[in-house]
This record gives sequence, C-alpha cells and structure tokens, in this order.
Amino acid sequence: MTKLLGISGSLRQHSLNTALLKAGQALLPDGVTLEIATLHGIPLYDGDLEEKSGIPEAVTALKQKILASDGIILASPEYNAGIPGVFKNAIDWVSRPPAESAAIFQRPFAVIGASPSGFGTILGQHAWLGVLRQLGADYWSGGRLLISRAHESFDDQGKLINQRNQDEFAKFLQGFAKFLQGFAKFASRPKP
Ligand SMILES: Cc1cc2nc3c(=O)[nH]c(=O)nc-3n(C[C@H](O)[C@H](O)[C@H](O)COP(=O)(O)O)c2cc1C
Repeated sequence: MTKLLGISGSLRQHSLNTALLKAGQALLPDGVTLEIATLHGIPLYDGDLEEKSGIPEAVTALKQKILASDGIILASPEYNAGIPGVFKNAIDWVSRPPAESAAIFQRPFAVIGASPSGFGTILGQHAWLGVLRQLGADYWSGGRLLISRAHESFDDQGKLINQRNQDEFAKFLQGFAKFLQGFAKFASRPKP
C-alpha cells in the first residue's frame, strides 16, 4: 500500500484546493491511499513561543502525518504570485527545530494547485521550488497539475467536472505513486 498525504494550503471551508484533494481520492490507482491534512490550529511562527512552549501540538501532529506517509502532495493556492502565508508558516514550523527538519529532508514532495484564474497557480507552484530545495525535499517533477477556472470545475458532489482535469489528475497520481514505489532511498528510512 502506498500512503499519500495531501496537505491543503487553505483554511477556507470551501477551499478549492481542499476540494481538489478530495476529488483526488476518487482518482487513485489501486493500492494507493490519500489522507488529507489541513493547517487548522497551527499558530503563527514565533521564536519566543517555540523557546517557551516548544513545538505546538498541531505542528507535531502534521509532522507525524508527514513521517507516516510515503509521499506528500502540497495542494497550494497562489497568493500574489507566491505561496500563501499560512502554508509557508506551517512548513516553517514543520522545519523546526532544524535537526528535525528530517520530516521533509529526502522525502518525496509534489505540488498541485487550483485557482479561479486562467493560470491555475503556476507561479505559486514555482515559488515552492526554492523552499523545498532549501529543506532537502525530493521534489517530484514528473507531472504537473494546474486547475484553472477552479471555481467552475467541481460539481455538487465535489467531483471534477471536466474529463480532461480528471484524466490529468489520475495520471499525476499514477505517476507520483509509481515514483514512490521505486523510491528505495525513502523506503529504507525508519518509520515511527
Ligand atoms: C491575498 C490573495 C491573493 C491572491 N492572489 C492570487 C494570485 O496571485 N493568483 C491567483 O491565481 N489567484 C490569487 N488569489 C485568488 C485565489 O486563487 C483564490 O482565492 C482561491 O480560491 C484560493 O484558494 P482556496 O479556494 O483553496 O482557498 C488570491 C487570493 C487572495 C486572498
């Protein structure tokens, strides 16, 4: 069984990016699961808070989900052509303390995104590259998923309406899962 973790970078109840991950759960290849995590409960990073109280519970919980998965998909909105602050903030927390940024180091990450615009988060996705590089993540670049006009892309059941979007997402998930299955370096890492 290949365990994917999808992290939605939006706190909104009706987030298009959370909806995208939910739609992905219906498009998985056999033998692959996709758990969805959100960023609710993660405070703003504050070094004083870290020094006084350590890593917040919500951050530890997210870190554990990352460690327990075989591969992570960041479903990232695009804000002002970049990464939304809440999402960057969560990953900054997860990277603390530095010795424990192993939660991300050498772990396979992929990035997808949905936006009402015609460009489907292409700049926001690009902005993740430097962050993932800095943290030593194994960024999977074998597929790309950009959902444009996303506010018109889901039906009442949360399914992607457009067959092309469905096919692209299924192909993306298939490609990422196949990559993970051959990811011997990752497979040999100890799991909690
Ligand atoms: C502060 C802010 C900046 C935004 N900047 C962009 C942008 O640069 N490109 C884009 O495609 N959409 C932009 N949007 C629109 C978001 O794509 C849209 O709100 C989207 O629904 C957010 O994702 P969510 O539905 O998962 O919350 C912006 C929205 C906000 C609130």
